[in-house]
Amino acid sequence: MSDNSPAKTLTSEQISDITRQTNYGTWRFQKSWKPIHIADAEGCWITDGAGKRYLDFSAQLMCVNLGHKNARVVESIAEQARELAYVTPGYATKSRARLSEKLLEVLPEGINKFFFATSGTEANEAAFKIARMVTGKNKIISRYRSYHGSTMGSIAATGDPRRWAMEPAGKGAGVAFAPECNCYDCPIKHTYPTCNIACADYIEHMIRNESDVAAVIVEPVVGTNGVLVPPPEYFPRLREICDRHGVLLIDDEVMAGWGRTGKWFAIDHWGVKPDILVTAKGITSAYVPLGLCATTSKIADYFQEHYFAHGHTYEAHPLTLGPGVATIEEMQRLKLVERAAELEPYLRAKLEALKAKHPSVGDVRGLGLFFAVEIVKNRKTKQLFNTMREKVEGKPLVVDQIAGKMMAQGVAIQAWVSHFVIAPPLIITKAELDLGIAALDENLSIADALVEA
Ligand SMILES: Cc1ncc(COP(=O)(O)O)c(C=O)c1O
Repeated sequence: MSDNSPAKTLTSEQISDITRQTNYGTWRFQKSWKPIHIADAEGCWITDGAGKRYLDFSAQLMCVNLGHKNARVVESIAEQARELAYVTPGYATKSRARLSEKLLEVLPEGINKFFFATSGTEANEAAFKIARMVTGKNKIISRYRSYHGSTMGSIAATGDPRRWAMEPAGKGAGVAFAPECNCYDCPIKHTYPTCNIACADYIEHMIRNESDVAAVIVEPVVGTNGVLVPPPEYFPRLREICDRHGVLLIDDEVMAGWGRTGKWFAIDHWGVKPDILVTAKGITSAYVPLGLCATTSKIADYFQEHYFAHGHTYEAHPLTLGPGVATIEEMQRLKLVERAAELEPYLRAKLEALKAKHPSVGDVRGLGLFFAVEIVKNRKTKQLFNTMREKVEGKPLVVDQIAGKMMAQGVAIQAWVSHFVIAPPLIITKAELDLGIAALDENLSIADALVEA
């Protein structure tokens, strides 16, 4: 495009207007969508068309783990484009081999056969098809507080209200929902540890009674739906249950993976080996769209003598794989997994202090640089300010009001129903963490004023 092309002369307002008029804004009513024109981003900061900077306190969609404009990853995109932009997935390429080797260094041991997709959604679709082909069974057990993607199979396996608009067809034949593991607000009204992890045992009850269950899919730390961290016994118990019934365990690390929780993958906290691990987002720090469905060699062996009935034109797309190598190398060089673990106590203490100060904060929880601050009308009853129904009906939410104020003050934070997700780039400094928390601190007064006496 030449320098005097019309796009060069667009104002920020025009860029926002054209986008709003010609594009769909996702997961929302369209009428109120006024997308801010973002012109630049560097480190933990994004900059709008007027030059105003915002601290990226949730790494966009909990995905820009390396921070913006990492020079090595940016260069790797150009290098890959110069070297080889595309060939059919039937060929071997250098970036494909190199990324596969790098993945073997960081993935949980035993996860060693890869299918590359271009999103977390697609990677989950692959996982479901693989599980169904390998086991010869059909059903998938998911949990209510979950998000696994937006296309028909993955939205059908999504427990959160983003599924509702697609029902009944979107429910998808063969998906059954289990209670999530939420020790703050247990869906089956138990209390840890006297519950003896009844929520995991209930999944065994479901497997027995459903029959024909191919797999259980879990986010090891539930992401968008509240950064729910299970107690130590949960995953070992779930692994035992799956093994007892010949059911595969699919570990959805799309959000929780890539150092976010202070380990390469969240499941590493519990030393449990999944059968299939799905990831995306942080695999390239979201610079290019890459998803991964990775399996054990036991699953891979099945396809030696059986047809692998899955694929995409963009599978193992070289432009996505080269930057994947650079991202892992940068994470290793900068020791970002260790950094997330080191910063955890600092962030936790700051958030606990918010809880002590603000009557509207019901709970703070998380691991690494992945935390939720849940706000409630009433600490005793744990009643939330808003419901999932209000969220999908486009009603004004207290969390959105607070997030809006924070944005105006220069801090971008993700909010969902009645909690905030704090998940900054893993390069964040303590001073930047302080800045984001100060903005939350100031604006939580909005929720405090609405707390029931
Ligand atoms: C746990 C989890 N799984 C799957 C997805 C879907 O990934 P994508 O948006 O890349 O399709 C997401 C997206 O947020 C996610 O958080």
